[in-house]
Amino acid sequence: MNVSIILAAGEGTRMRSKTPKVLHEICGKPIIHYVLEAAQKAGIEKNIVILGHGKERIGKKLKEYDVLPEIQPVGEGIPYGTGFAVMQGEKHISDEDTVIIMNGDVPLIKDSTIRDFIRTHQNERASISILTAKLDDPTGYGRIVRDENGQVLGIVEEKDSDEQTKKIQEINSGFYCFKGKDLRFALNQLDSNNAQGEYYITDAVGILHQKGYKVTGYRINHPIEISGVNNRVQLHELNQYMKQKINEFHMMNGVTIIDAQQTYIDHDVVIGQDVTIYPGTFIQGHTKIGDGSTIGPGAWMIDAEIGEHTVIQNSKIVEAVIGNDCTIGPYAYLRPGTCLKNRVKIGDFVEVKNTTMDEGSKASHLAYLGDGDVGKDVNIGCGVILVNYDGKNKHRTQIGDRAFIGSNSNLVAPITIEPGGYVACGSTITEDVKEGSLAIARARQINKENKGKNKYK
Ligand code: UD1
Ligand code: CA
Repeated sequence: MNVSIILAAGEGTRMRSKTPKVLHEICGKPIIHYVLEAAQKAGIEKNIVILGHGKERIGKKLKEYDVLPEIQPVGEGIPYGTGFAVMQGEKHISDEDTVIIMNGDVPLIKDSTIRDFIRTHQNERASISILTAKLDDPTGYGRIVRDENGQVLGIVEEKDSDEQTKKIQEINSGFYCFKGKDLRFALNQLDSNNAQGEYYITDAVGILHQKGYKVTGYRINHPIEISGVNNRVQLHELNQYMKQKINEFHMMNGVTIIDAQQTYIDHDVVIGQDVTIYPGTFIQGHTKIGDGSTIGPGAWMIDAEIGEHTVIQNSKIVEAVIGNDCTIGPYAYLRPGTCLKNRVKIGDFVEVKNTTMDEGSKASHLAYLGDGDVGKDVNIGCGVILVNYDGKNKHRTQIGDRAFIGSNSNLVAPITIEPGGYVACGSTITEDVKEGSLAIARARQINKENKGKNKYK
């Protein structure tokens, strides 16, 4: 069986963060999720994740994946390092397994690379294979030391390197394939006599080579894939890379992106054909956008679902579902629980929360629609408020089809405006309005002759 051991127990000191390193995100997805998905897509049947620092937080995030978490003890006096981390997974592997060890901080690794790597390792009948790459700037990585025939002799960490070794450009990616039995043998031989006083899994390479086992290096030509995230500069670099890949993917699928530098689309977003995206736009989480819609400039969407041929400008949309042929914004705020059917119009400075609006209804300017159920072809005037909160509880407002809510009205919930009900502007409505009725709830105007004189120069 192919078994992976994914290392994610490190402290991530260089990130200078209270968040565990592997939970930092690349285009909206934690680093560790990329590694896990690559492992699963590569067909690895059993995936063991080694957790230590931040184990509770990481463990929670792993719930959606079929993995075996294993805990590496951390604390003073306890040994440390990638070798010690691998030892924690040892009990899950058998002699016949192919064990793929992966660093949990290498998010761009492709499943196809892992698959090819495993296949090559198995075809070569190697004891251990190391995934390597040649870098222009190898600083920070372990170096692959080979003899004059190209045979891998071992891996030397940067901190343990002399000047000559530092010049080697071929680096260790942190991905290895082992024969289960030989991994066990090597783990027994590891020691911590090195600059960091840690157990290095990389020492397994030299150990096996010296004992005459077959060691091979599998060099890939796209080193970006094996870039590790150790600090926020590297996090930024990989974010930029992934962002461009995501934008290119959507453009190749028929999405027009006016300025890809200024368009931020998360990894799991789904976008239909002939969508146009203007700059300054963030499309996050599991947002879905239907064919022919126009998004931005300046749209910010999180877990939203947008229909076809809908226009969204300069607006924030969070966990809302929007139908076809709607227009939203500029400067609208659609909050969780908003559900708009087809041809709805939400204009400038309108906030909608936990409210449904049926086909053809409009709130064109300056309104707060909280906890409402709005029927078809309703007109909500400028400045209308659904007064949903009495200081203790939230209440709902029902507005029937074809109702007209005049400007600057307050509908004090719980309340019902029946179909075709008409609320005169400036009303504060506290009693239900019957079908087809006109409700006026404001003081009658008094005009006082000549009293206006001299009040204003
Ligand atoms: C490691 C390799 C280095 C390689 C590089 C590739 C070793 C000794 N060095 O260095 O040769 O070029 O990756 O990116 O392996 N971890 C644990 N428990 C620990 C320590 C680390 O689970 O006690 C995990 C970390 O969470 C991380 C991974 O192992 O996901 C790698 O650890 P890190 O400290 O980043 O190793 P590097 O210094 O990058
Ligand atoms: Ca690393």
